[in-house]
Amino acid sequence: MQKITIAIDGYSSTGKSTLAKRLATALDYVYVDTGAMYRAVTLYALTNKFIGNSEDIASLIAELPNIDLKFVPNNTLGKSEMFLNGENVEKEIRTMMVSEHVSKIAAIKEVRWLLVNMQQQMGKEKGIVMDGRDIGTVVFPDAELKIFMTASPNTRATRRYKELLDRGEEVSFEEVLENVQKRDFIDSTREESPLRKAEDAIEFDNSDMGLDEQFGRIHDYTLRVIAQQN
Ligand code: C5P
Repeated sequence: MQKITIAIDGYSSTGKSTLAKRLATALDYVYVDTGAMYRAVTLYALTNKFIGNSEDIASLIAELPNIDLKFVPNNTLGKSEMFLNGENVEKEIRTMMVSEHVSKIAAIKEVRWLLVNMQQQMGKEKGIVMDGRDIGTVVFPDAELKIFMTASPNTRATRRYKELLDRGEEVSFEEVLENVQKRDFIDSTREESPLRKAEDAIEFDNSDMGLDEQFGRIHDYTLRVIAQQN
């Protein structure tokens, strides 16, 4: 059976990763969370004080070739781990601190060139489910299946708020809602590969849908697309 490329894009906290992981496990495909890569560069910039109180984007850009980023997928479990300079930073990249700065870092074209190139290498054999903001438009414009996920800002902030509380972060719902909306704004208005729906993507609004229903619908659709390719 010939494998395909599946691109899942959409606004912040629309459940892209949850769906992408489950789909990858069901199909025995590789799952790649590109947001983790932008988050890892942001963590690096924060740790080295290139952003935050002082802004030194030029130094960050100069340092980019020296950053060791490794995204390690676990195909069968649909899990993944992000390594930054040899250290597992899967937990550190999910904090509100990183969320507050990541969209600014993701708007830097040198950062995007580096990460898009890595992502294209990871997907060159196909059999991949990749989620992000520009996968169907820039990383894999020829992907056989493109999904663009949306949900109301309130639904998305509620999901994210629960996730952060479960991880023990002290945040208010208002902070999370503001962060989700701010990231959407920066991501969709930036100059370099802004977040937008690819013309040939199917739009999937999951505001009123549980996880099983979302997975069931997308899985059925995916199997039809794969059958057409074979
Ligand atoms: O997917 P996640 O919410 O973890 O992504 C964090 C941020 O990384 C996004 O808000 C966006 O600024 C950036 N991003 C991006 N392009 C991608 C994936 C993520 O610009 N392909």
